[in-house]
Amino acid sequence: MTTTALPGHPHFTLRDGELFAEDIRLQDLAREHGTPLFVYSKASMLRALAAYQRGFAGRKAQICYAMKANSSLGVLQVFVQAGCGFDIVSGGELERALIAGAKGKDIIFSGVGKTRAEMRRALEVGVGCFNVESEAELDVLSEVAVAAGRTAPVSIRVNPDVDPKTHPYISTGLKGNKFGVAHERTVHAYQRAASLPGLKVVGIDCHIGSQITDEGPYLDAMDRVLDLVQAVEAAGVPLHHIDFGGGLGIDYDGVVPPGADSLWRKLLAKIDARGYGDRHFMIEPGRSLVGNAGVCLTEVLYLKPGAQKNFCVVDAAMNDLPRPAMYQGHHNIVPVSSRGGDAQTYDVVGPVCESGDWIGRDRALSAQQGDLLAVLSAGAYCMSMASNYNTRGRAAEILVDGVRAHLIRERESVADQVRLERTAS
Ligand code: LLP
Repeated sequence: MTTTALPGHPHFTLRDGELFAEDIRLQDLAREHGTPLFVYSKASMLRALAAYQRGFAGRKAQICYAMKANSSLGVLQVFVQAGCGFDIVSGGELERALIAGAKGKDIIFSGVGKTRAEMRRALEVGVGCFNVESEAELDVLSEVAVAAGRTAPVSIRVNPDVDPKTHPYISTGLKGNKFGVAHERTVHAYQRAASLPGLKVVGIDCHIGSQITDEGPYLDAMDRVLDLVQAVEAAGVPLHHIDFGGGLGIDYDGVVPPGADSLWRKLLAKIDARGYGDRHFMIEPGRSLVGNAGVCLTEVLYLKPGAQKNFCVVDAAMNDLPRPAMYQGHHNIVPVSSRGGDAQTYDVVGPVCESGDWIGRDRALSAQQGDLLAVLSAGAYCMSMASNYNTRGRAAEILVDGVRAHLIRERESVADQVRLERTAS
């Protein structure tokens, strides 16, 4: 038997031309559960997590999985069991994390627009930290905490004004972004936080963007954050933890980002050199923990030769895989069972009635009607961003663990979709 690992997807292998997730043949899953179908490898998630754990070995550190990347309960449970905390951005994510078994103290609440109701609930369950994004939010959080008879642990998200060199929609640490408190306002914001009755300052945080494949922006951002730690503490506000956000990219198309372990060795060397090595560290990785742990299986519905382009129409669409339409995101697409024959160049498109509904452009494929394809790197920001556009039900999801395949989400039916709707009469 010849076995080859898919690039960037260590637990997805081709065995004699058949694609496997760990020890499960993907073709069998598609037959049993239909398509489109998301398939995740638990071992891949744990392997990605292990790289961060190696990076922090011997340190006081907490890895808080940014669950916006994939918030399916079966995925969250993997990270709960592995000892992770969670980074959340809504009351909905808070409830999901709790349902999956997370403890309040292991949850950090990020986001630029928390409502009072969300703050109240987060205080009630005792979240570990609120990552506050504005001075106005500090005031409201203090008010809500006082009214609830509690003290809110806070960290201020600072905007280090560093260009992460990624897609503009997913860079968050530049002056023009809506996120965080400006560098020059930081000391003032901390003094204010320290003076408010409902708050207790516990840390500092930042997040400069997502799908970062270059270590430069991280190293620069760390320098700027450490400058702020120094300035804030000099102003009399001690900081117990440093939360460096998420953002490490994954290999979508051959651009290989730094390993989490080697990146953190470099960042910690900087931190040690400045004398902050004894602090508690937190990070909020999302994509890098789940992105290349998942694929989306889809069936070729039609091949449609054209005058300018050939189209390969598949049964997955922009409602399942929104990243190409939203960010011109690239996902590799490979056959689930390799067949011989000449490859042709196709645009791989879905059934949604939009020209923006494409999954891959100019792809060389030797495909026939009825074949199965796997859209790679589909573990992050696919299912969690999926919609019902065109009244398409969201796909089913499988979590593979060795020789076992667990159905962690059933395919959504039309009845599920219309459950909350009423006609006027
Ligand atoms: N922490 C904060 C405060 C964030 O805003 C984000 C992502 C993360 C952590 C996790 O970042 P990651 O490690 O996943 O890069 N939908 C886009 C990505 C949006 C990311 C938004 N914030 C995409 O599909 O590329």
